[in-house]
Amino acid sequence: METNPCGLSVSAQSAAKPYNRFHSLPEERINRMSSNSFQMRYSRIHNMRSLFSLFSSDLAIDLGTANTLVFEHGKGIIVNEPSVIAVNKITNEVEAVGREAKEMLGRTPGNIVAIKPMKDGVIADFRHTEKMLNYFIQKAHNRKMMVHPRIVIGVPSEITQVEKRAVMDSAYRAKASEVHLVEQAMVAAIGAGLPITEPGGNMVVDIGGGTTDIAVISLAGIVYSRSVRMAGNQMDEAVITYLKRKYNLLIGERTGEQIKIQLGSAYPLDKPMQMEVKGRNLIEGVPKTITIDDSEIREALGECIATIINAIRVALERTPPELSADISDRGIVLTGGGALIKNLDKRIREETGLPVSIADDPLASVVLGTGKMLSDFKLLRKISID
Ligand SMILES: Nc1ncnc2c1ncn2[C@@H]1O[C@H](COP(=O)(O)OP(=O)(O)OP(=O)(O)O)[C@@H](O)[C@H]1O
Ligand SMILES: [Mg+2]
Repeated sequence: METNPCGLSVSAQSAAKPYNRFHSLPEERINRMSSNSFQMRYSRIHNMRSLFSLFSSDLAIDLGTANTLVFEHGKGIIVNEPSVIAVNKITNEVEAVGREAKEMLGRTPGNIVAIKPMKDGVIADFRHTEKMLNYFIQKAHNRKMMVHPRIVIGVPSEITQVEKRAVMDSAYRAKASEVHLVEQAMVAAIGAGLPITEPGGNMVVDIGGGTTDIAVISLAGIVYSRSVRMAGNQMDEAVITYLKRKYNLLIGERTGEQIKIQLGSAYPLDKPMQMEVKGRNLIEGVPKTITIDDSEIREALGECIATIINAIRVALERTPPELSADISDRGIVLTGGGALIKNLDKRIREETGLPVSIADDPLASVVLGTGKMLSDFKLLRKISID
């Protein structure tokens, strides 16, 4: 016998058993009743959700390390914000999400913390990822009541079962009627307009914030895929480290990113560029302004670019010969924000000897491809990974 918190003694057996309100009925009837009532309840909820979904607008989401984009069926991209959330540490309340929260990075007082819940292409912080996803879904629907959209979400290729469950649960909790997951590299290729359903090799390199995803796709299936933790965020870090070593200048994450976007290149530019950078001098301890040029930032990014090119080389080596032949005709397509590093396409072309092109809207390729799945359920069924 044990004593429960109220001081009443209970037998070990009944304490271990969950409470069952049908305890006085024969077991067979209990099973029949509970499974029937569960099925009825489930199918009623499901039917109601499907009914609501008739009046709702389905959504496609690119849950990226750096940016989250939401596409609404029939409307296009309706949310495009950084994947950042700011929370009050004392009350646990959300202070800001997206652009407003990104502005707060590195500038928050002690009681507020600005978090990037996605790291290296994976969900590093489930609780805040869910809050952020919920906020973006609500924002997409303008807080309209009774909306139960079908949602397709692009997730990193190396996502674990636990993370998959967490993303799906978040979307269901945000009142989705159906949730499907697709691999970001696959939808990036669709968004970039590659003919992925045909028998023929297509190579897509998605250089995002946390990871570079390389995939060879044929007949709507992934023949080869690899994800390396080398992308935009690591380039920002490389710029920060470079300026610290060379100039003893300490800059923040956001300044590091701005320098990379403005000056970052993978191959010498036609016209040299310069910019002024403000930071804190580590020796004197005071704010200082210096002028840097594109060649310095090219040097800072050298290792990051080399790692990406090396991963592309490995992918090419591992591609079956027939598909290699297709890729040598069709070339490589670059997507993701990292594709916008100046002359990166030129550098990859030089190093691989293959044609290289950049998708029309590289930052939106994943969400556009995911959006296409809202009107092509046959293809969605083929490529979904849930
Ligand atoms: N013009 C530009 N030049 C260089 N880099 C850029 C440019 N514009 C955006 N970026 C970088 O692209 C990255 C964001 O790209 P993207 O939105 O594709 O990533 P993500 O999808 O959020 O990340 P992931 O796919 O790894 O989860 C950031 O690191 C950003 O600094
Ligand atoms: Mg991405």
